[in-house]
Amino acid sequence: IAKVEVSLAAIPEGKNVVVKWQGKPVFIRHRTAAEIQEANAVPLDVLKDPQTDAERVKDPQWLVMLGICTHLGCVPIGEAGDFGGWFCPCHGSHYDISGRVRKGPAPLNLEIPKYEFEDGEKKLIV
Ligand code: FES
Repeated sequence: IAKVEVSLAAIPEGKNVVVKWQGKPVFIRHRTAAEIQEANAVPLDVLKDPQTDAERVKDPQWLVMLGICTHLGCVPIGEAGDFGGWFCPCHGSHYDISGRVRKGPAPLNLEIPKYEFEDGEKKLIV
């Protein structure tokens, strides 16, 4: 299986990058301290697909997810929507800064692919 290697040093804090992995978009966000705090402050009982932020990341600074809406597979837009994360324009699903669905028809959080850090988190291998 083909792997994708991403140099994390090139992604500043507060920025999103999209890479292609097996024809699918993978979203990488270098989260700020405030965003990590926000992700952790969300109570599980408001979530349709309850997951803590810690269950979704290996390192809280780096959020890595498949960029495919769990409703019908459109590609959500970054830095958009009502919850500071992603917005799917197809039917209006909103995802938070942990990629968890917060509003709209999507049934599940954005999926987390298998990935590894290398070289002390200088590189990400998806
Ligand atoms: Fe994203 Fe329907 S495909 S809301």
